[in-house]
Amino acid sequence: MTDTLKASAWVATALGDPTKVLARQAVDVPAPAAGEVRVEVSTFCVNFNDTDIVRGRWATVPLQPPFTPGMEAMGVVESAGPGAEHLVGRRIVGIPAGAHGGFAEYAIVDATSAMPIPDWMSDTDGAALHYPFHLGWFGLVERARVEQGETILVHAGAGGVGSAVIQLGKALGARVIATAGNSDKVEFCRDLGADVSINYRQGGFSEAVSDATLGAGVDVAFDTVGGSVTAETFRCMGMNGRHLIVGYAEDIANDGTPITPAPAVYGNFSLLGVCLAYSMDPLATRLTVGMNLPSRSEGLEIHRRILGLMRDETIHTVVTSEIPFGELPAAMERQERRETMGRTVVKLR
Ligand SMILES: NC(=O)c1ccc[n+]([C@@H]2O[C@H](COP(=O)([O-])OP(=O)(O)OC[C@H]3O[C@@H](n4cnc5c(N)ncnc54)[C@H](OP(=O)(O)O)[C@@H]3O)[C@@H](O)[C@H]2O)c1
Repeated sequence: MTDTLKASAWVATALGDPTKVLARQAVDVPAPAAGEVRVEVSTFCVNFNDTDIVRGRWATVPLQPPFTPGMEAMGVVESAGPGAEHLVGRRIVGIPAGAHGGFAEYAIVDATSAMPIPDWMSDTDGAALHYPFHLGWFGLVERARVEQGETILVHAGAGGVGSAVIQLGKALGARVIATAGNSDKVEFCRDLGADVSINYRQGGFSEAVSDATLGAGVDVAFDTVGGSVTAETFRCMGMNGRHLIVGYAEDIANDGTPITPAPAVYGNFSLLGVCLAYSMDPLATRLTVGMNLPSRSEGLEIHRRILGLMRDETIHTVVTSEIPFGELPAAMERQERRETMGRTVVKLR
């Protein structure tokens, strides 16, 4: 019988600025329930959405304090609930149950999301892999059906997700146009393989995209920014284009603001929503929570394809900073201020 464990964790004591409301506390981590595993966390990454959750501005997963944030965790499975026993002792990266709880020495992870990490991959790279590459693959391949020779526009290309999407776009044989918020980031996108790289905070980017495509526009846009950037992206979409709506970094307070469909009508392009979480039973998920999610077996296949591309060094994780557990709030602040590139990995052990 597995017992509750005490673990050191970062706890949101109120909603607000992570540097003010997060406190180091000892928390109880319960025994894993059916379909869950308890992970001895070695490393995890800082996600933009973690800050949204702590600030209380993310409609997808609203939480009331006190709670432990953290939507990714890498480590060894220490114990498992019914149905997940086969994972005990394995190195995995996964999404904590309810998309929070990862900022701790031990985390309860939804076994549906637990992806095995092979021996040849470090815990740092394992921690950096999940959201950027799974989301990138799911968006580009499963949702947009990108084809070789097509042109992809990737916003916030120097960020955690964007740096993976640039590489995946190139690996899929596409031409990649990246945007980013300052000159160092623009250079970073180029080094990652972007064919064209634009500072989108220096006036309109749609003219540069038009020039780069000889006026034709792009086939696919991977848009994690929202707000004014989404509106201007409409003007970049070519005939039969697919505009992936993936996040709202600029516009998080307005998460859910209706987008007028008129530009997609006269532009003959499609708006595609992208939400990545895996489900053990997609039909049950649809009927109970109203979300259409890909299955765990689809997730494992995506994982296999990503690992294959990493093994042969076609793509790589983008870790620009490794920090101790105690520096987590400062790292969240840097990401929110748009000062980070690639991923920041927090190391507990
Ligand atoms: N749909 C899903 O299932 C799913 C899952 C995970 C993550 N996401 C989304 O993926 C995106 C990237 O997440 P991440 O953790 O990798 O973050 P990140 O890219 O490392 O950081 C966010 C970036 O967004 C850009 N940005 C644009 N406007 C901003 C603003 N007003 N404030 C702050 N940043 C702004 C900044 O890059 P520049 O300075 O270059 O503009 C910033 O670096 C987020 O939008 C997140 O919601 C979606």
